[in-house]
Amino acid sequence: MKIAVLPGDGIGPEIINQAVKVIDKFGLSQSIEYGAIGGAGYEESKDPLPETTLNLALASDAVLLGSVGDWKYDKLPRELRPERGLLRIRQGLNLFANLRPAVMFPELVHASSLKAEVVSNLDIMIVRELTGDIYFGEPRGIQTKENGEREGINTMRYSESEIDRIAEIAFQAAQKRSKKLCSVDKANVLETTELWREIVTHKSEKYPDVTLTHMYVDNAAMQLVRDPKQFDVIVTGNIFGDILSDQASMLTGSIGMLPSASLDQNNKGMYEPSHGSAPDIAGQDVANPIATILSLAMMFKYTFAEEKKSQAIENAVRQVLKDGLRTKDIFSEGTKMIGCNEMGDAIIERLDI
Ligand code: IPM
Ligand code: MG
Repeated sequence: MKIAVLPGDGIGPEIINQAVKVIDKFGLSQSIEYGAIGGAGYEESKDPLPETTLNLALASDAVLLGSVGDWKYDKLPRELRPERGLLRIRQGLNLFANLRPAVMFPELVHASSLKAEVVSNLDIMIVRELTGDIYFGEPRGIQTKENGEREGINTMRYSESEIDRIAEIAFQAAQKRSKKLCSVDKANVLETTELWREIVTHKSEKYPDVTLTHMYVDNAAMQLVRDPKQFDVIVTGNIFGDILSDQASMLTGSIGMLPSASLDQNNKGMYEPSHGSAPDIAGQDVANPIATILSLAMMFKYTFAEEKKSQAIENAVRQVLKDGLRTKDIFSEGTKMIGCNEMGDAIIERLDI
């Protein structure tokens, strides 16, 4: 078992430390090796994805990532900004399947901005394609037209094989859950997603036990806040998935709770919290490490097929919440506010291994 640990920027290092404590507790300290990414990579070698980091990730079974980004790098050329490091490692490892669960913990129902009855017991999984679409499509750039005016260009494109492989992952995920899959597109306007719809529909023949529906992305955005429990698994492209997964995460009250997995064809994966680097609270020991710790649980489940370790972590997190311990982002009257470090310790104490 070889795990590359990339703390990154902002709150990344402090939340990663908590997940590393869990790895230590399992007696797996030997499995990890650290690398720099994002702003930290830039500081180390003027590159948001240093070659040594990419090589480390390529040589590992799994990657655990904190978060990247800090305002202080906003003025750098795009290629050197922290986010580029993230996009390049996704592409470099061929992590085309991004799983973003949005799960409501019973103790946090009142942290959601939606009514309790709309979100209680919510459990949805967004399967986002991660290495194609307008994020990577060529041509792209800003060019000057003949009349001297500049124009920005990005290209939405998907090939059949790219759609086919993400559809496969989504149908398999749906099969293991409530057997309901909703494919989100904009087939009424965009040819790229007309093809998307065709390929996903074709794939459904292989999965007769899964009920496939299609929804336009604008409607999906509306339905997610109107009645999110109508969804089980959602599959969509890179840009729509980026937007809808942020929206879905907030239904659960705090983005600080949600893990994610990005997988390649062989279940090698990169695991990271769904939230960002929150530079405004970095170094203050107030960040919520739960999303990162749950990302580790996903790593044991998907890459290492160690269901027991995964469950133990999830159970410990649930127990901490039951015991009324909260970081600042999920604090409410009658619970006890603790810091990032203490939250890590509290989870470890409750790990049944
Ligand atoms: C995400 C983030 C990234 C994305 C950014 C940081 C490049 O928003 O993981 O959702 O757009 O994919
Ligand atoms: Mg995003």
